[in-house]
Amino acid sequence: MSDDKLSILVLLGTNRKDRESEDVAKWVLAKMQERDDIEPRFFDVCDFDLPRGHYGTEIGDSFPEWRDAVIEADGLVIVTPEYNHGYPGVLKSVLDTLLKEYIHKAVAFVGVSAGPWGGTRVIESMVPMVRELGLAVTFSDLNFPMIKTKFDENGNLIDEAYEKRVAGFLDELVWLAGTLRWGRKNLKSKYHQ
Ligand SMILES: Cc1cc2nc3c(=O)[nH]c(=O)nc-3n(C[C@H](O)[C@H](O)[C@H](O)COP(=O)(O)O)c2cc1C
Repeated sequence: MSDDKLSILVLLGTNRKDRESEDVAKWVLAKMQERDDIEPRFFDVCDFDLPRGHYGTEIGDSFPEWRDAVIEADGLVIVTPEYNHGYPGVLKSVLDTLLKEYIHKAVAFVGVSAGPWGGTRVIESMVPMVRELGLAVTFSDLNFPMIKTKFDENGNLIDEAYEKRVAGFLDELVWLAGTLRWGRKNLKSKYHQ
């Protein structure tokens, strides 16, 4: 990981068959790859074979690639659909595999919904949960309401307004993730060496 680029993980938060959120996550990832200040990595909740009966940090060792990526990361982008005004259970289970590894890192949300609110409600419901993980939330979200109208059959985004929106969304994430990286390096905390 180069020192000047920020390591940001994109987590696709649903394992639903035919999920529309995948187009969104791939598009956001591509936008991150175009920038010279972010080194993104993609994770998909589908790739986590979660064992039954285990909770908390002991399960983190079962997914070394994810654990090591989060340890290295400066921030996360969580792409989540809205399911009954909440987040998919599998997304919560994946986040729950770790704890201390998230502390003092940035998180930004991308919400996806069939309805007109673009995941606003699911994002609001996630904020208290990620706070408990030690993550710091940006104040600009990216919302994809009426998702069926947003992409063509090849997965290309139709609405050009998102170009400006994603730039502002990522600028804000870069600022917060960079500030926290500086803080982890230079300020005393019992959570960092
Ligand atoms: C169990 C379930 C609950 C849902 N609840 C909502 C909802 O509360 N509000 C909404 O706008 N869309 C809701 N939807 C529709 C999703 O937002 C829609 O499927 C959208 O495409 C994003 O999810 P996806 O990535 O699974 O496709 C729900 C879908 C499922 C499967």
